Amino acid sequence: MKVLHVAAEVFPLIKTGGLADVVGALPQALIAQGADARLLLPGLPAIQDAVLHQKKVCDLGSVFGAVNVSLWLGQMPQSKVKVYLICAPYLYARDGGPYQAADGSEWSDNLQRFGLLGWVGAHLGAGGLDPDWTPQVLHAHDWHAAMACAYVAAHPARRVATVYTVHNLAYQGLFAMADFHMLGLPSRLLAASGLEFHNQLCLMKAGLKFADRVTTVSPSYAAEIATPEFGCGLDGVIRGRASDVSGILNGVDGAVWNPQTDTGLAHRYSRADVGGKAECKRQLQTELGLDVSAKAAVFAVVSRLSSQKGLDLVLASLPAVLRSGAQLVVQGSGDPLLEAAFLEAARQHPHQVAVRIGYDESWAHKLIAGADVMLVPSRFEPCGLTQLYALRYGTLPLVRRVGGLADTVVNATATSAAGLAQEAATGFVFDEATASALQAEVTRALGFFEQPALWDTLMQQAMAQDFSWHQPARDYMSLYDSIAIKAD
Ligand code: ADP
Ligand code: GLC
Repeated sequence: MKVLHVAAEVFPLIKTGGLADVVGALPQALIAQGADARLLLPGLPAIQDAVLHQKKVCDLGSVFGAVNVSLWLGQMPQSKVKVYLICAPYLYARDGGPYQAADGSEWSDNLQRFGLLGWVGAHLGAGGLDPDWTPQVLHAHDWHAAMACAYVAAHPARRVATVYTVHNLAYQGLFAMADFHMLGLPSRLLAASGLEFHNQLCLMKAGLKFADRVTTVSPSYAAEIATPEFGCGLDGVIRGRASDVSGILNGVDGAVWNPQTDTGLAHRYSRADVGGKAECKRQLQTELGLDVSAKAAVFAVVSRLSSQKGLDLVLASLPAVLRSGAQLVVQGSGDPLLEAAFLEAARQHPHQVAVRIGYDESWAHKLIAGADVMLVPSRFEPCGLTQLYALRYGTLPLVRRVGGLADTVVNATATSAAGLAQEAATGFVFDEATASALQAEVTRALGFFEQPALWDTLMQQAMAQDFSWHQPARDYMSLYDSIAIKAD
């Protein structure tokens, strides 16, 4: 099976969230299943500088307002995955993030930047751009890559099968209708049946409307996005594709997230020997200037600070949490108001609250290993990866019952170790997106924390979960098989 993944970010080269983790891991998992999975990425500096053994595939000339555009093929570092790179310095060679400048403003030419990504994907899919390789399936991720599905649909030549994965319906890629001409597509696509969405161009719709199959990253989120509550205005479009939409849970890259091999930890540990986790906690408390105490439960947040993640609820319930003697550690960045509020909490309670603003991969590992509880109180969550990493590290997730969180964490309700084993509990789950509901759940979790035998049972069960990429990769393979253009 030859499959081309089209995306804008990839771990470990450039990452703004879980999308990069998925794009970094899934092609490798597909290769382990026997697929020939490759990536197509924009030639952003962090990607261009890191991809190995680059060889030019072809020149693409002047497209999307850029001159001397070319396509290159190389290899992801420390991986078997081959990567096509679009070299278009005018559109991609700049400092800042993949979607935004350093000041947080969207790049004003994102329509051209991601139009080009989709256009090249579709032409690779149609065959001929790389005479040595034509994919049978093109798999586009999020709105950044969605245009590939529209270009494939509009392309007169051989039609590669397409899969579009929604990682987050809230980010839709909206642009002015007047700029439609830049995309070079037939005008029939500029309609409600195409890319138009409330008098704007919606790149997300290119995937939702034109892909052969639409997936999202958990079964619950697949059901939720067909409802007005979670559909971000696109629930009607999703209901219209009902028989083509499915949810496949993300996995965990065990080469990156494994407490037994994680070189960033004070002490490595495993399910069979969890002793090192206590040392990770002690080290975390020490390094962050918190009271060093095994008895104080440490709650952790590793997250984008956005309204999606429900972290305002954490702030609102913080006084009660602190009165109980628990501690909070945060690694996050995003909304300046949330950043300021968390920093202020740390200033007021330096022995109980530690906040690190910014993006820091190695600290994410330290927090997830050293904490007792991982807080993920999201308002919506397509899949969520931090609760999966936490399970692996024996850090019990406390999550809201929504999206992928509901699909991956089993609530502890029993009062005995045998009862917890019977219900296969792995964490704590609450329903209402309110501070009082979160606070009550924290109190409930603390009740378990005070009973080491119960806590140990939960840790063992959490660490025994298999959220590897093995099964998701098999599920994607079956999906590809059901739609693939068979080799000539
Ligand atoms: P989302 O993609 O919505 O941000 P996920 O839970 O799917 O949420 O993935 C988030 C990813 O980003 C995880 O790998 C998490 O560890 C990482 N992450 C989030 N914020 C930070 C941060 N401030 N520093 C380091 N890693 C972070
Ligand atoms: C998105 C979602 C997150 C998901 C990630 C990877 O960023 O917000 O829930 O885990 O994509 O699919």
